[in-house]
Amino acid sequence: MKTLAFEIIGSVLIIRGSANDRILKEFAEEKMKKHPYIQTVMLQTTKIQGQERIRKLKFLTGDRNFETIHREHGNQYLLNPLDTFFSPRLSFERMRIASLVKENEVVLNFFAGVGPFSITIAKKQKNCLIHSIEINEKACNYMRKNIELNNCEDNIIVYCGDAFDIVPYRFLNSADRVLLPLPLESKSSLPLAIECLKEGKGTIHWQITDHLSSKNIDLNDVTTSIERIFARESVSFGYSISEYRIIRWIAPHIAHIAIDIEL
Ligand SMILES: C[S@@+](CC[C@H](N)C(=O)[O-])C[C@H]1O[C@@H](n2cnc3c(N)ncnc32)[C@H](O)[C@@H]1O
Repeated sequence: MKTLAFEIIGSVLIIRGSANDRILKEFAEEKMKKHPYIQTVMLQTTKIQGQERIRKLKFLTGDRNFETIHREHGNQYLLNPLDTFFSPRLSFERMRIASLVKENEVVLNFFAGVGPFSITIAKKQKNCLIHSIEINEKACNYMRKNIELNNCEDNIIVYCGDAFDIVPYRFLNSADRVLLPLPLESKSSLPLAIECLKEGKGTIHWQITDHLSSKNIDLNDVTTSIERIFARESVSFGYSISEYRIIRWIAPHIAHIAIDIEL
């Protein structure tokens, strides 16, 4: 049988790649047999695109109710993959960051989606406050529901709108930790994130995509990118990189990378 790429979000199987109808049907049947909780099968017909990071999906078979609950690290996320971004492949990264958050921290999440980073943090570190911003109204509504679903109302405050509008008038000099889970805006969001750190000190979880010639990240390339941005924006803070890792491969030589920057 032809191997196709796929992911499962809640009860929705999303197949990626091109194949004829017979192969897609066989693939879907095999996966539904192996994972009986799959109710809906969709084919991804575009890349994840646009500011809201949504992909087009074509219905193939099963239930036409596309809203689903995805379970991860004991938390639940209600979402519709047709309207919102969600990737199970970020699961490890969410728990990695949540494990770093200390008591009484103020965390600022610029690009919160349906809330998985913020909720994972809130469930792991009960004594912290997370400001969670999201521009996609539908994702924002799901985030509100997910906060309720996971009982984190005391820890997470939602802001529906553009982080580049909201942050400058609300969050300068206010956070211990800033999350930037949107490689598309990595260059523009980093200078603003620095301004949000309390007295210029704290941690920024920066995500980028980069072309890598080998399987490893070249730290010199990362520091060159950071220093270019700092020079362009006249940022003069000292910094160090406490961690860097490949989150996932997007294409054979293109990696989605996490970098923890300490200031
Ligand atoms: C790559 S997704 C990550 C979402 C979430 N952190 C997750 O892991 O599921 C980026 C999110 O940022 C949102 N977004 C894009 N530009 C934004 C902006 N300027 N302000 C706030 N949110 C934005 C998108 O709608 C999308 O939900």
